[in-house]
Amino acid sequence: MVHRLITSCCTRVLSSQTRVLCSRSFSSPLYPLQPKHVDPNHDALYEESLNNPERFWGDLAKHRLRWSKEFDTVMDCDMHKGKISWFLGGKLNVSDNCIDRHVEVTPDRTALIWEKDEPNQHQRVSYRELKEMTCQIANTFKQYGIVKGDRVAVYMPVSPLLVATMLACARIGAVHSVVFAGFSAEALKSRILDASCKVVVTADQGVRGGKVIELKRTVDTAVVDCDCVENVFVMSRTGASVPWKDGRDVKLEEAMEQQSTECPAEVLDSEDPLFMLYTSGSTGKPKGLLHTQAGYILYAGLTHQLVFDYHHGDVFACVSDIGWINGHSSVVYGPLSNGATTTLFESVPTYPDPGRYWEMVERLKIKQFYTAPTAIRLLLKCGDHYVHKYNRDTLTTLGCVGEPLNTGAWEWYHNVVGGGRCTVVDTWWQTETGGIMITPRPSSGHTRSKPGFPMTPFLGVEPVLYNDQNELLEGNNVSGRLCIKKPTPGMARTIYGDHERFLDTYYRPYPGVYFTGDGALRDKDGHYKITGRVDDVINTKGHRLGTAELESVMDEDPRVAEAAVVGYGHEDYGEAIYAYVILKDEVRDNEELIIKDLKAAITKHIGSFAVPHCFMITPGLPKTRSGKIMRRILRKVAENKPEELGDVSTLADPPIVSTIVEKHQQKYGTK
Ligand code: PRX
Repeated sequence: MVHRLITSCCTRVLSSQTRVLCSRSFSSPLYPLQPKHVDPNHDALYEESLNNPERFWGDLAKHRLRWSKEFDTVMDCDMHKGKISWFLGGKLNVSDNCIDRHVEVTPDRTALIWEKDEPNQHQRVSYRELKEMTCQIANTFKQYGIVKGDRVAVYMPVSPLLVATMLACARIGAVHSVVFAGFSAEALKSRILDASCKVVVTADQGVRGGKVIELKRTVDTAVVDCDCVENVFVMSRTGASVPWKDGRDVKLEEAMEQQSTECPAEVLDSEDPLFMLYTSGSTGKPKGLLHTQAGYILYAGLTHQLVFDYHHGDVFACVSDIGWINGHSSVVYGPLSNGATTTLFESVPTYPDPGRYWEMVERLKIKQFYTAPTAIRLLLKCGDHYVHKYNRDTLTTLGCVGEPLNTGAWEWYHNVVGGGRCTVVDTWWQTETGGIMITPRPSSGHTRSKPGFPMTPFLGVEPVLYNDQNELLEGNNVSGRLCIKKPTPGMARTIYGDHERFLDTYYRPYPGVYFTGDGALRDKDGHYKITGRVDDVINTKGHRLGTAELESVMDEDPRVAEAAVVGYGHEDYGEAIYAYVILKDEVRDNEELIIKDLKAAITKHIGSFAVPHCFMITPGLPKTRSGKIMRRILRKVAENKPEELGDVSTLADPPIVSTIVEKHQQKYGTK
């Protein structure tokens, strides 16, 4: 029933006359969502999804997924215990759902369009070809002894072979752990060891923005101390000759050629692990969030279809790297489970020039385009002529995710990129939620959106806000800590190897609900806006980093007594990173030299994308009498807002505040 309503809503066409027109006269500007297809039943469906989740999700799972054996129990969840499980007793295979069932009907439909780093070069891969590649990799894995439950580290360029590697793992029940190919050898090593990965899949080199990235050499360094790693599979991306360890290293394409293009899909339980993905938290150790089969694929597919109003024949492009959750759900699993044509973007937005995205939109006839606010802000500064140069008439939906999208950037995206005709969907979600949770829904009949607002919860999602005293905030016009009351099928099930940390982080802070780590406000109309992280996590340039992760790298330097890192509002990056460092008394080294070394250490341990934008060597830090660093003060200094420091008299050492304010102004001026 629910399935039929959602299907019918996606085929009903709304006449343009019934669209609610844009009005700029509202005090909080409202824009039309301009849906092509509208679901007049959205409100009823939303109510149903909250009131009767078993019927709602059960019906969708039954009809949207292909099962080897249908499930007996829709859900077995207890938010008080952080227990989330869905579709118990059911058996299926995610790669079968993402490839085989489409190959049976439309084998020649394009599954992937690989937009290579080299400008003007793309390659199409049909569903049939994707299945063949996937099966060959799956058979290669089997030949090398990889079995169900084994962990496979993936450190590859965005490419069809990366997608086929993920699906090959899914096909045989191995668990992939994709590590963003910008992470350093140290960061890769810690992730390989944490999950005891049996193999690593990589490439000779990567290329991004015309620059070569030494992937194989990085893997070689990473696996030196990883006894768990038996083989390293190497895809050829540039054909460069790279160091080789016989017996361990395997040329991926050559191994694939020996294999059959058929490989039966393993029959897996709904709750068998599908993948893990590391993300930053408030301690130094990144956490491997674990996602499982049926619930994840159902949620990723449903959100992709409804939020982007996706229809067969549309070319969808999410330009995120596959190494992040957005790449997993919005580039790979969501679109492929829907039989969509999805774009793999290997490059960067400014290569060869800031018209790259829009040239690609014209050439590939992209309908739905999904990126990060940081990219929008960057391109906005480069000038409108890069956008106007290309035809963007095919675009219907423009999405963004990862940080708040400020009004100026929202308007530029809507008016300049979308020519005022496209729907802008500012979507809020996380690695932990697996799919979009708060978002405007073009096909929902909710025809207005406010800049900077993800707006409304998706089907089945019930956001709630708590104040600092852990009290539930009722009604509108309130802001607090964002939690989710109802379980959804796509939520992570645990942190790999550390369920206690999972419970402590997400389910114990506010008993009975999932704590997101974000602050949010619900305005007078009940619409949501995300105000930023309330924990020690920074979202910078589309990357998520824990302050503790950075501090622990700097603390390793024998000259450093203590380091404190904060994120602060930045026009281009969303948040920028500021590191305050106290040196040991006896250290006499040149400050600039120390900063250079600290930058090098962060590049080595995490990756160059994590290097703070500002450093200050300071004699002390503002601390409470109990020794807690007052990060709020450090943030205000970084933002150059000393007038907003508030009362500092209760600090252990109040004069330190004026010292750091002065130092900041000397080094970075008043801007
Ligand atoms: O702080 C929120 C921010 O990004 C965090 C999740 O980061 P990650 O797990 O890397 O996943 C990003 C891509 C799904 C959130 O806790 N965030 C995400 N979307 C938005 C956002 N902040 C504001 N507005 C958004 N639309």
